[in-house]
Amino acid sequence: MEVLRVVLLAGHLAALAVLLVSVVVHLGAGRRIGAVLPAAAGALLGTGVLLAAVRTAGDMGNNEPKLAVKLAVAVAVFVCALLARRRPDGAHAAASRNDRPTGPLPYAVAVLTIANAAIAVAWT
Ligand code: HEM
Repeated sequence: MEVLRVVLLAGHLAALAVLLVSVVVHLGAGRRIGAVLPAAAGALLGTGVLLAAVRTAGDMGNNEPKLAVKLAVAVAVFVCALLARRRPDGAHAAASRNDRPTGPLPYAVAVLTIANAAIAVAWT
């Protein structure tokens, strides 16, 4: 159970790193958000829920109010990441990788994610 927890935690932190790098790369290159951002947001959400489950199963204890807040923020991050991929006109047609990123959503993803990381570390 401990090995599983550590593997999941490594995945959780890797998803966090990929998500933030994805935002910076896309905004830095002035490009549209790709599939990596929602994938990383989904991985962060999924590994987080699995971590909580493994900790519960292994009698390691959970800070439930903190997890509820993190879950709500992580869902908001995931929704913003999905919406950030949409073209401004809502069209599904093959979008060019060189389209401009869509508005403030990528910034919202980054800010909410950093806020959730701060909650994870500071709320003891
Ligand atoms: C944007 C989304 C998220 C971010 C940025 C994030 C960030 C982090 C960070 C930095 C840690 C390591 C520090 C620590 O151990 O407290 C962590 C651990 C953890 N996260 Fe998340 N998290 C997110 C979503 C979630 C969700 C949705 C859940 C579950 C509802 C969750 C559950 C956990 C648990 C249980 C740990 C502790 C693992 C352990 O040490 O055994 N996380 N998270």
